[in-house]
Amino acid sequence: MNKTITVIKGDGIGPEIVTEALKVLDKVCEKYGHTFTYQEILAGGCAIDAYGRSLTEEALEKCLDCDSVLLGAVGGPKWDGVAKEIRPEAALLGIRSAMGLYANLRPARLFPQLADASPLKPEIVAKGIDLMMVRELIGGAYFGEHKTVEENGEIVAHDDMTYSEHEVRRIAHTAFQTARKRDSRVISVDKANVLDSSRLWRKVVHEVAAEYPDVICTDMLVDNTAMQLVKNPSQFDVVVTENLFGDILSDESSMITGSIGMMASASLGDGTRGMYEPIHGSAPDIAGQNLANPIGTILSAAMMLRYSFDMIAEADAIEAAVNAVLDEGYRTGDIMSEGMKKVSCSEMGTLVAEKI
Ligand code: IPM
Ligand code: MG
Repeated sequence: MNKTITVIKGDGIGPEIVTEALKVLDKVCEKYGHTFTYQEILAGGCAIDAYGRSLTEEALEKCLDCDSVLLGAVGGPKWDGVAKEIRPEAALLGIRSAMGLYANLRPARLFPQLADASPLKPEIVAKGIDLMMVRELIGGAYFGEHKTVEENGEIVAHDDMTYSEHEVRRIAHTAFQTARKRDSRVISVDKANVLDSSRLWRKVVHEVAAEYPDVICTDMLVDNTAMQLVKNPSQFDVVVTENLFGDILSDESSMITGSIGMMASASLGDGTRGMYEPIHGSAPDIAGQNLANPIGTILSAAMMLRYSFDMIAEADAIEAAVNAVLDEGYRTGDIMSEGMKKVSCSEMGTLVAEKI
């Protein structure tokens, strides 16, 4: 198969981790007879440096005109002072929104080899962690009106958190369909005891749940969810929630499985085209030192093959390769533990590619 992939290396460790994911994808092409054409664009801080804004029209055009987008990470302290409209993060939100990627799938799975890396007690980890965070990605407080104004002699900042029925309905369908391929359990997370947007969320989720009688649907308040994730994470199968709650809970979910460096994500809309990125940031403190963990990005590439290209055997091969490399004791610094073999970012990429 021929596929065109728009590649956004981004900032900080972005170029290093994406290079390793491409190494693995190249190996997949070689082994399975595919051709992937990479069109690289600048987005994020590097685009601010080059063009004065984090996302140009031409770059966005390339995201809309391809089979899928692979992204490393954007942002860093260097661009903290720039206007909010051109911030590195604005590029990411702009691409998600322009591509209509409302569903963000973030699998948090404990690799048994990394059980030691989890900050949770062994008896909690022993019960296993395997959940899918389904985060609404282009609504809520991130996309409502933002304004900072002067009211009654002081500065007041507003961030409007809005959800419409259709926005909740479509992500709810994603969650129930995802659950059908897993353990058929959905926990819908909201703050319906306080927020109107959450009360609507809950009502619409219940309506959609009625169409999936085979899936068990439970509501959970977001504060309780944050607690349950550390107390009893094995209870979760699919978790569906709005944008901001999902941003926070997905970082928490990744950490309990050992390292944020391991967690992949897929952002999808109505079609097959998606954007794939690790959930972590650009880690400026370790950038350029060949220290980063490329596995989150490599597993994101595997999700691209699975969800956008329907290359199931190829995606399985990448995941099996990561498993095998971990089994052999290779670890980047973030997941290192006693007795294991410490490797660099590029060594980890090569090791995974060799196992394909
Ligand atoms: C993520 C990130 C982004 C988000 C930032 C960089 C805008 O934290 O993908 O989780 O909040 O969506
Ligand atoms: Mg985040």
